[in-house]
Formats: sequence, C-alpha cells, structure tokens
Amino acid sequence: MSIKFCHKNVLFSILLCSNVVLFNSCKIKQDGNYNKNTMKVANHSYSNYDEVRVHHISLDMSISFDSLTIAVEEKLEFEVLKNNASELILDIKNLEIDSIFNNQGENILFKSSDSDSILGQALVIPLDHLFDNQVIIKYKTTNESEALQWQNPEQTKGKKHPFLFTQSQAILARTWIPIQDCPAVRFTYDAKIRLDRDLLPLMSAKNPQKTNPKREYSFEMNQPIPSYLMALAVGDFQFIALDSVCGVYADPVWVNDCASEFKDLPKMMSEASQLYGNYRWERYDIVMLPPSFPFGGMENPRLTFATPTIIAGDRSLVSLIAHELAHSWSGNLVTNETWNDFWLNEGFTVYFESRIMEKIAGPDYAKMLEVLGMGDLKNTLADLDSTNPSDTKLFLCLEGRNPDDGVTDVAYEKGRFFLLRIEEVVGRKRFDQFLNQYFKKHAFKTMNTKIFIEILKDELLSEKDSWLNAIDINQWVYEEGLPSSCPEPKSIYFDVVQDDASAFIEEGHLPQTMDYTTHHWLHFLRTLPEGQPIDKLTSLDSAFSISKTGNSEIACDWFKHAIASKYQPAYQAMESFLINVGRRKFLTPLYSRMVNTGQIDLAQRIFDKASPGYHAVSNSTIAAILSGKSNVPH
Ligand code: BES
Ligand code: ZN
Repeated sequence: MSIKFCHKNVLFSILLCSNVVLFNSCKIKQDGNYNKNTMKVANHSYSNYDEVRVHHISLDMSISFDSLTIAVEEKLEFEVLKNNASELILDIKNLEIDSIFNNQGENILFKSSDSDSILGQALVIPLDHLFDNQVIIKYKTTNESEALQWQNPEQTKGKKHPFLFTQSQAILARTWIPIQDCPAVRFTYDAKIRLDRDLLPLMSAKNPQKTNPKREYSFEMNQPIPSYLMALAVGDFQFIALDSVCGVYADPVWVNDCASEFKDLPKMMSEASQLYGNYRWERYDIVMLPPSFPFGGMENPRLTFATPTIIAGDRSLVSLIAHELAHSWSGNLVTNETWNDFWLNEGFTVYFESRIMEKIAGPDYAKMLEVLGMGDLKNTLADLDSTNPSDTKLFLCLEGRNPDDGVTDVAYEKGRFFLLRIEEVVGRKRFDQFLNQYFKKHAFKTMNTKIFIEILKDELLSEKDSWLNAIDINQWVYEEGLPSSCPEPKSIYFDVVQDDASAFIEEGHLPQTMDYTTHHWLHFLRTLPEGQPIDKLTSLDSAFSISKTGNSEIACDWFKHAIASKYQPAYQAMESFLINVGRRKFLTPLYSRMVNTGQIDLAQRIFDKASPGYHAVSNSTIAAILSGKSNVPH
C-alpha cells in the first residue's frame, strides 16, 4: 500500500491508509485505489462536519496582481463533536497546499484524495498532533481556482486598474479556501489582506471605505456564515453612502450613476425589516463588479455583488437589489442545508423580493414582475419536461451532479408560486406572522425541506383542515410540474401589451409605446413567437432602435428573436453584447438558440473571442451547450 505524505509545495495524489470515514460510513478504499463509485459524498462535501466542525477561520492573504495568485496562511479553529474523531477533513479544489502546521509551528503530515472534476479533493488532516483545536494551512491559489476571476484593466469600467473578484456559490469556495464547503456548516471569520496595488479590497465582512498607503487591510465577520458566502472583490472603488447603513462601491467613473440608480435602497431596507424582522448584518452595501460577473447579483453578507448590467439609467432593473437584500433573511439567516433544498433560499427570496417591490413601486408593478416570472417558469418547465423532468420538483436530487444543475426557475419561480399559494389560502396577515417567526427562530441556522414542511404544518396550516387540503404540499414539493391550484398572475398593465402584440403579429401594426416601461417591452418581446419574419423585425428595429438599446434585459430578449429569425442587422450588436457581458442568464439563451438554429459556427466563433473574458462558471455552461452536452435549451 502506498501512502504519500505532503510536505512542501507538492500536492500529491494520495492514497489513503486509515479508515477514513467521510460521511455516512462512506469510505475511501484501503487498497489505495480511490474509487469514486464506492464513495458516496453527501451534501457535495467530503468534509466530516458531523465529527469535527470548523467554527472560525482567520485568513492572512497576500494578493498579487503580478502573478495572479493569492498566497494565504489560514488558521482554522474547530470543535470536535465525536470523541473518537481522528481527522479533520476539508474540501479543496485546484489549490496548491504548501504546508500544514499546528499552532506550535510543527509540520503536520496530511493526505489528500484524487481530484474529482466537480468536488475536488478531500484534504485529510490528522488531529493527533494538533493543539487547542487549531490548525494552520499555507497555500496558494492557482490559475485553475474557479472561484477567482482576475480582470485586466481593459475589462473594467474605468479601464485603468485590474480587478479581482470571487464567486463561491455553490461549491467554489473550496477553490480559494480549504474549507468545509457545505452550507450546513457556519463559521465566523477574520482576514488580513496585503496588496501589490493601490486598490481597495472588500469582503463579505466589515469593510474599509477607502484605500490606505500601507496597502494592508483587516476584515471581520462576527456573524456565522456558510462557506458559499465567503467573498472578496478588489478594485478601484469609490464609496458613496446612501444613508448611514448602506452605500455603493463602484469604479469612480460611474459611482454617481450607480448611487442614483440605487436611491431606493434605504427604503427597501426599512420595508424589508418591517416585513420580516430586523436587519441582522449591520451594514448593507453593494459593490459593482465588471460585466464578466456570471450572475446578476450575489447576496454576500453585508456586501451584495452586482452586475453592471442592472444599471439601466431609469431604475427599471433594481428589483435585483431587492432580491439580494431579501437574501439577508432567506438564505443568509436561514440557510438551505443542502443544494437539494435550494428552493428554500431562492423561492423564499423571490417571494420576499416581490413584497419589497410592492412597497417600493406598488402592487401593479410587482404583478408585472410576477407575470414575467410565470412566463419564465412555464418555459423552464417545458424545457425540463423533455430533458430532465425530475428537476421540475422543488426538492431536488443533485447527488453525483453539479449543484449548478439546480439553478433553474424551478427553485426561484415554482418556489415563489408555492409560497404565494400558501399566502392565498391562509391570508397574507397570517402568512407574514408565520414568516416573521420563522426568520426569527431559525436565524443563523440551517433548514431543510422536510423540517420546513413540518414547521409549516405545525405552525401555520394546522389551524384549519381545509388549509392543508387546499395546499397539496406533497405535490408542490415532491412532484413534477405545476399543481393545478397554482395561482395564475395577471397584470392590468400588460393587457395593452397583449393587444399590441396581437396587432403586430396579425396586422404588422407597430405598438404604441409612449407609456412602455422596460417591463412592457419585455412582455411584448416575450409574447411574440420566435421566428418572426425578417421584415417584421426590421420594422420594429427601425422604429425603436432596439438593437441599440442600453437595457440589458431588453437587449437579451431582442437578440433571442434576432437569432431565431437570423436577423443579421442585429448581429454586430449581439456579438459585442456577448463579448462584453459574462452574465450567464443572458449567455445561455443566446448561445443555445444559435446552436438550435444551425448557427453553431457563429456561436463557436463568438465564444472563442469571448470566453477569455468569461468567468469559469459561465465558460463551463456555454462549453457544454456548444458540445451538445447541455440540457439547458432555454
Ligand atoms: N444566489 C444567487 C446566485 C447564485 C445561485 C449563484 C446559485 C450561484 C449558484 C443570487 O441571489 C441570484 O439569485 N441571482 C439572480 C438574480 C435574481 C434577481 C433572480 C441572478 O444572478 O440572475
Ligand atoms: Zn437569489
């Protein structure tokens, strides 16, 4: 049996000797032939968090824009939950582990497993030479560290300075920090950062507001968070306060535009707190990321990361901020235990987002968003029905798969409509009381689907038998598709759009768009069946210059039509959109349409140009679409 121990600078593929119990009696085989099939990994983590649990992390990071690496000394503090536990097991992926010590400075011999393409490796640290439940790991990130995205100055708004950001959700924290990378483990953290540039580092923690000449910064996060909320952004930021607890960090060239776009944020915060209890994270700031950020927003505690594509100039896309803010309760306070329970994070958040928008912009506005959400959901259900029908269940089965597969409108929108159905049956007042209690009672804890259902039954639905019957919980959560009792949203604002769309489809009449808002346009474009004749698209484009729109949501919907109809005049704009923007939600429908309409060469050519600027998360999704391996047609 061969056992290799790692000392310096080498990360061996190690064959494990002892009986390493990973989780639920899943074992790495002793004969050294690490066999993935014999090792069932629960919760997308190799860590033995039910035996030994990390509760605090201290990071000392030196960030180099010269070498595009972060060199880190990490101290982990843990609790031993089972007396006979003999190892601390962490998740790592594409990290270079230099050495591991105890707090007396003595080297600790460690082991690591072969790397799985999704999960990475188990880093196994024996406990017997550790003192005070502490261990120190020296490591470096690599250019394979998928969470990290290093941007050249040209890829940033101001085009003067480089930029670095991380994206840890769902299981990429392990690519920049050795960690128990599973949402059921919460820990506090502190960090020191040294930089080789005059830039400002920000984390999901207490943050500085300006640079200092020493280029050294300290951070603290005293509220326990799960690993997927570990976050870092480094750039040329200027901070503008929106009130005493919230503000925005952005490139100086447009920080004023961003502050003006987010003017309603203080009101969103007070409305959200009135709905579901005090804001528990002290500050709420937003940092504007470069356009390659693969998501619209990421709810990193105290510091939402936002795509620049929501700055439309007319505040029409700020519901995304309401969404990320809502995660300060649903997700960040009460956290999904596994990625199968992802709807508990996202479905609640979409429901909550809508309640905030109702307060900010009125019920009719919120209804428009609801109608658009239902449209997205129906498209997604239709797509999944022909590819992966069991992914239309709220409670997912992502074992052995990338948890990214669970990021669909099912979690978001089916989740929201389930909660809306409950609201409809019990009444808003009761539902709000219930949710208020729920967030209070389970703050800083994890939640899973089964327990949520028990709580829902015990604390809300038990009052009347008819309520339980009216909401077929089982069907909503554990069955495919949408129950027939699903509320069907309607918006009076959209009636006119519906008429306009019919007149355009049938007679070619251009819509009367004087009163059109962004959402009217989105509804109009989504109501038009794809594959419109070229002359129809031409007349729309010449009347409204849609190909030139600065609104990213409208642009994306328009380019879907352009691709489906092979409307060439929009292709130049579409190509530069795809090269400049890395937000996956926009890339996926455009590339998959090119593939599905016989334009794969075009898709490949654009992807070749654009992919160096995309984040790993977007790159892997688009590469899968181009190779025909993806089942995300929409
Ligand atoms: N937490 C998600 C983003 C996410 C989910 C990243 C899963 C990685 C894995 C975030 O809150 C989110 O939902 N963002 C949406 C915006 C929203 C308004 C629906 C997005 O990025 O489009
Ligand atoms: Zn979300």
